[in-house]
Amino acid sequence: MNPTITLILLLPLVIAYTVLSDDFYAENPNLIILKNDTCMPLIDLEPKIVFNYFCGITKTPRPSGKLHLITKYLEEFATKHYFEFKKDEIGNILVKVPASRGFENSKSLCLQSHIDMVAEKDEAHKDFDFDSQPIQLILDEGWLRANGTTLGGDNGLGMSLALSVATDPTIKHGPLELLFTVDEEVGLIGATGLQKGFVNSHHVLNLDGSFSPIIIGCAGGKTTTGTLNYKTETSSGPTLGITIEGLRGGHSGVDITKQRANSIKLLARILLELIVQHVDFKLVSLEGGGADNAIPRYAHAFIRVHDVKKVQDIVSTIAENAKIEYALSDPSIKISTQNVEGIDDNIVHDDAIKMILTLNALPHGCTVLNLEQGHNKARTSTNLASIKTADGVFTVLTSQRSDYDSERDEITNNVISVFKLAKFEQVKVDGVYPGWIPNLNSALSKTAQQVFKTLFNKDVELTTIHGGLEAGIITTKIDDEYNADAISFGVHVDDAHSPTEKFRVADLEPAYNFIKALVDALK
Ligand SMILES: *[C@@H]1O[C@H](CO)[C@@H](O)[C@H](O)[C@H]1NC(C)=O
Ligand SMILES: *[C@@H]1O[C@H](CO)[C@@H](O)[C@H](O)[C@H]1NC(C)=O
Repeated sequence: MNPTITLILLLPLVIAYTVLSDDFYAENPNLIILKNDTCMPLIDLEPKIVFNYFCGITKTPRPSGKLHLITKYLEEFATKHYFEFKKDEIGNILVKVPASRGFENSKSLCLQSHIDMVAEKDEAHKDFDFDSQPIQLILDEGWLRANGTTLGGDNGLGMSLALSVATDPTIKHGPLELLFTVDEEVGLIGATGLQKGFVNSHHVLNLDGSFSPIIIGCAGGKTTTGTLNYKTETSSGPTLGITIEGLRGGHSGVDITKQRANSIKLLARILLELIVQHVDFKLVSLEGGGADNAIPRYAHAFIRVHDVKKVQDIVSTIAENAKIEYALSDPSIKISTQNVEGIDDNIVHDDAIKMILTLNALPHGCTVLNLEQGHNKARTSTNLASIKTADGVFTVLTSQRSDYDSERDEITNNVISVFKLAKFEQVKVDGVYPGWIPNLNSALSKTAQQVFKTLFNKDVELTTIHGGLEAGIITTKIDDEYNADAISFGVHVDDAHSPTEKFRVADLEPAYNFIKALVDALK
């Protein structure tokens, strides 16, 4: 249906709901968060308006693919403030905020953020339900993090900043478009699926970036999945669990040069060593990792084996080596074994060998450095992200990134080659998006640099990153006459995509001040 018609039809319903609902958290910027609930840690934090919205967003479940509640939250926001809004077929939302009086003819500015978050949790919180539970916030020596889960600062902070700019009575601005995209974390689906002209602004401020430097370009990516059908047979005997945990993980783009361990690689190394040392064992199951854009922190295998002592010796040797190899980059790796009962079918020998060799052969990490940028930056990388054996199918999920689409395709083909050599039945490539090529003569980035200098009395660098950002895709979806230009700016989030995700509370105020000043300069 035409989104305008949908809007007209739904409007009375939405208004009725809003009038009845007294449970809308963030509508009034002057209200302090006073509820005795999961937002308690935010009570005294500044800027209040931004933390108010962050509270509402944090309480609203929004794992990728399950965005109906956060969509409702945004629709309520728009309705409450009498802003026009529309939704496209895949769920992207555009809220139109009229210009302040006198600035109706200014160039229009799009403030863009994504509404989904990566749902990662640590072992102690494995029962946490991202579909229904609010994120539990913890204020820890000036940092805000969650209780054993991802925080959703990526990109809840961007959303909060956009909602704040739209409703802060102290800001004068031109016409604003608040663009909220779906499922960025699973392959930039919202941005990629935008129809041309759904959003039409001269300037795009993507709020998923870092505070300083300002980002003006990024790597492109692909997701590559291989599946192998396997057979099982019934066997008996003692069963041993092998568990790899305690890894730092992190973002498969921006953290990929940090030499952190990959739990799946460590597990594969142990299983290969069992083969090399002629241990007589049968593989029962494999599991590890999570989202395609998170470096895996956990991996687990069950094996059926009699010589448990021999396996434990091999495990402790590899654990000792890992301790030395990752002493600086990943110091808390824990590798353990567990004796368990009652697991019967095992994977037949030939299929088990294919799996173990595949995981050892698959590349992981930064494969090409970006020497042009003069420091330790990735140009091309691949992440061995997750593995799973279930119902006779072994699934391996990987993701590739590169500044150059040609190099991204080459590393993808390397991964595919490994799958093909091991006779995987199916290899699927999706989540394909191009790199965002930097525009070094952009008027928007020059204005941003000036505003930064005026506000903070220091220069800000412009740079490109190895993560995926939607900005470059979005500008291609804006009608040509706008000659749209984008930059990416935001609050730096540490360990994004991992349960240790956190940000420094004190970083939010300068970020908000910068955005306010930029909005003012562009009006
Ligand atoms: C919050 O509620 C809990 C019980 O639900 C109570 O024990 C605690 O004292 C309350 N805290 C405040 C600050 O009101
Ligand atoms: C974190 O979660 C655990 C397990 O649910 C709970 O016992 C603990 O009280 C929580 N900590 C905080 C600070 O909320």
